[in-house]
Amino acid sequence: MSCNCCKGMITEDPRFAELDAFIASAKSTPGSLISVLHKAQHLFGFLPEEVLQHIAAGLQIPPAEVYGVVTFYNYFSTEPVGRFPISVCMGTACYVQGADRVLAKIESELGIKTGQVTDDGLFSLVSCRCVGACGLAPVITIGGEVHGKLTEHDVPKLLAEIRQQAIADGLVEAPVQEPVAAGSDK
Ligand code: FES
Repeated sequence: MSCNCCKGMITEDPRFAELDAFIASAKSTPGSLISVLHKAQHLFGFLPEEVLQHIAAGLQIPPAEVYGVVTFYNYFSTEPVGRFPISVCMGTACYVQGADRVLAKIESELGIKTGQVTDDGLFSLVSCRCVGACGLAPVITIGGEVHGKLTEHDVPKLLAEIRQQAIADGLVEAPVQEPVAAGSDK
């Protein structure tokens, strides 16, 4: 099973072999496209174009059908996402309560802009429109969990707690501490 767009990648990336095995097992099941997309996103973290083309070839369906499903469901992403995707609501209620300041603080704390992922792959950042929790404005979601009535001053502690937990869970490595110079009393 192969497609022209990713022939080179298939031999190099074992995730394609795992995806192919899944496609082979799911292919005869009606509606298998959704489960194949779930599997692919789990394997690759997101759904780049070469993976979508590969799925279309594997399931022998038009690429447009695959793209249609991916763009219909918010769950699927064609852009890289972090383990903890952050979404900042910029709807009216949140905006007037300072969502722009919260967003700016997240960007400066993480060193990324909207649409980017941190180097360690832990966080990604997007903005969105009303998430239906206007009474808690301003609202952000992190990994699907809602955090409301947030100010920019809450951001560093919130992100630090998530990072600490991720380090404890072995998801990322702890930052390297600068060695203290010998004889330093500080
Ligand atoms: S405007 Fe942000 S939750 Fe409604």
